[in-house]
Amino acid sequence: MRIEKILVPVDFSAHTSAAIRAACELAQRHHASLTLLHVWGPVAYALPEGFLFYTPEQLSRMYSECQALLAAGKAEAEKAGAAQVQVLLREGVVASEISAVARSGRYDLIVIGSHGRTGIRHALVGSIAEKVAREAPCAVMIVKAPPAMGASASSTDLSAIEQGMRLDAIYQRRATRSYLPERVSDAAIRALLDAAVRAPTAMHLEPWAFAIVQDRERLKKLSDRAKELAPPEHRAAFDSPDFNIFYDAGTLIVICGHGAGPFVEADCWLAAENLMLAACARGLGTCPIGFALPALHLPEVKDALGIPAGVTAIAPIIVGFPRGAVVDSGRKPPEILRWIKPVAVEQ
Ligand SMILES: Cc1cc2nc3c(=O)[nH]c(=O)nc-3n(C[C@H](O)[C@H](O)[C@H](O)COP(=O)(O)O)c2cc1C
Repeated sequence: MRIEKILVPVDFSAHTSAAIRAACELAQRHHASLTLLHVWGPVAYALPEGFLFYTPEQLSRMYSECQALLAAGKAEAEKAGAAQVQVLLREGVVASEISAVARSGRYDLIVIGSHGRTGIRHALVGSIAEKVAREAPCAVMIVKAPPAMGASASSTDLSAIEQGMRLDAIYQRRATRSYLPERVSDAAIRALLDAAVRAPTAMHLEPWAFAIVQDRERLKKLSDRAKELAPPEHRAAFDSPDFNIFYDAGTLIVICGHGAGPFVEADCWLAAENLMLAACARGLGTCPIGFALPALHLPEVKDALGIPAGVTAIAPIIVGFPRGAVVDSGRKPPEILRWIKPVAVEQ
């Protein structure tokens, strides 16, 4: 069998390294060239009311990360002895795109890592390697990662890129205090509420309920009332009659809790975080407005917002389209008080 061109699909998981090493060995033996290919899944994901596209900033960051990871893969292959290594970045349905590249580039062999997925995960997503083996126009070698590597990979079971994308909203979310006038659509608000109610909930009580205010005049009045009730130490900040505690955001979502159980507040704030992360993923800005709470507890305000007796406002969150970039306030490193590890067992 003549092997002159080898294609190595990479997803930057631990399995990728095993495939690169095997491909390098073959490349050296056959004086073949090596191409590392990363296929980017479709750049949109589904929400109940349609598809959500990544923002240009997210795409450009993902693109740079992919390029950097491919460059690292190339360096790894060259270190392992491959003489001619090139990299390719494509977008599409992963298995089909790998086969299409193999066909158009007249590759002799595809060397691909197996994720060795089992059980329900395998039933749901199948294995890319299996699909490639079925569809490819050339020979396919599936490289199983050594057990230790497989075990550690399956415990996270996400490529670096997937992890980056899933953590994106956590690292991108910032308290937004300046908004454009555009109204957030009903569909977007429903999607945020849907994300909110996916939060963990103690004893599965789901104690949350939502009041939504999108009337700017009402919001201004509520802001004025909240300013009157602000503790004296904060009054100075509220001196200007123009200052709106909702920062002129067009939407306020008040997450309320039924009853006074020990975990009602925790559940509602977890729902609030889900809502803020979902908003961030959609390019919306948010900010919790704790200062609104005293006003939201007034009987006449509760009445106007449809908050019945026995239900209490817990997490008021403003939502809107951010006006300009938002500054990252940064964080201190996590303070670890103690980290108790298992005592090593002497052999
Ligand atoms: C419970 C709570 C109440 C908050 N209340 C207000 C508020 O009334 N007004 C405000 O401008 N920001 C408020 N914030 C936002 C914080 O000031 C903000 O999260 C913090 O400065 C960190 O910034 P970051 O969220 O951009 O990382 C509140 C945050 C929390 C968690």
